[in-house]
Amino acid sequence: MLKTICYISDSMHNESLKNIEDLYLKARTNNAKNNITGILMYTDRNFLQVLEGEETIVDATFKKICADIRHKNIFNIIDSPIEQRIFEDYNFGFTTINNKQELNNLFEYLNWLKNADCDCANKVIAMVENFIMKNKQS
Ligand SMILES: Cc1cc2nc3c(=O)[nH]c(=O)nc-3n(C[C@H](O)[C@H](O)[C@H](O)COP(=O)(O)O)c2cc1C
Repeated sequence: MLKTICYISDSMHNESLKNIEDLYLKARTNNAKNNITGILMYTDRNFLQVLEGEETIVDATFKKICADIRHKNIFNIIDSPIEQRIFEDYNFGFTTINNKQELNNLFEYLNWLKNADCDCANKVIAMVENFIMKNKQS
């Protein structure tokens, strides 16, 4: 069964670019191996992540992520079965957002996705948009 998990968390430190790049690289490599799609972004000491994939694999990955001491206050916003992935066709599946251009691309993709008539997709879109808007303002 396919499922999605979406959460936000606070970074333990004001992460250096190098640390974030290492983390992104690890997430992209593991997720490609595990056929997990989604997004991971970091701004203003907050992480937002969407994971999509086979239930057991997503749960196992999320368990590892929760045990990671690089972040805290992990708040799981969505944890539910899905009929289809929403990030499968976006940027080779799993995307890390590194700069304004990538953020704008994501924003455009989410707008395009809104035409997909899918309740869960709309929840995910709303969550990511809130995060983006909050960080655009700060
Ligand atoms: C905010 C955050 C997001 C992460 N996202 C992922 C992820 O999507 N996939 C993943 O495998 N590891 C992710 N990690 C890293 C895991 O916590 C863990 O270090 C890693 O999965 C260990 O991989 P290994 O078992 O191959 O050594 C993330 C860590 C943090 C702090």
